[in-house]
Amino acid sequence: MTWRWITDPTDRPDTLVTITVDGQALAVPGGVPLAACLLALGRRTLGHDPGGRPLGPGCLIGTCHGCTVRVGADLRRACQVLTVEGLLVTTASAPPAPDDSRGTQGKYG
Ligand code: FES
Repeated sequence: MTWRWITDPTDRPDTLVTITVDGQALAVPGGVPLAACLLALGRRTLGHDPGGRPLGPGCLIGTCHGCTVRVGADLRRACQVLTVEGLLVTTASAPPAPDDSRGTQGKYG
């Protein structure tokens, strides 16, 4: 078995699909975990905790919930979603307002 680290999500042009992240259309490999694509694209912050600290993919096995994003109308863990053509993703990557003690998890779009 040969392992290969994907450093450029556009280096497999035969399998590219178009997804939209926060309104930006992106060509990414199809059938790979969304969290891996977001990390490869430099999108490390997907939300904020109540203290305003950034949240993003941590475990990549579906347990930490740091990668929660809105996919279509549903909140999903990005590490548990495979990329497919037309995937519509919204993050809560903007920092919370200073008077918001709840962070941005749950506020998407
Ligand atoms: S990275 Fe931990 S649940 Fe997705």
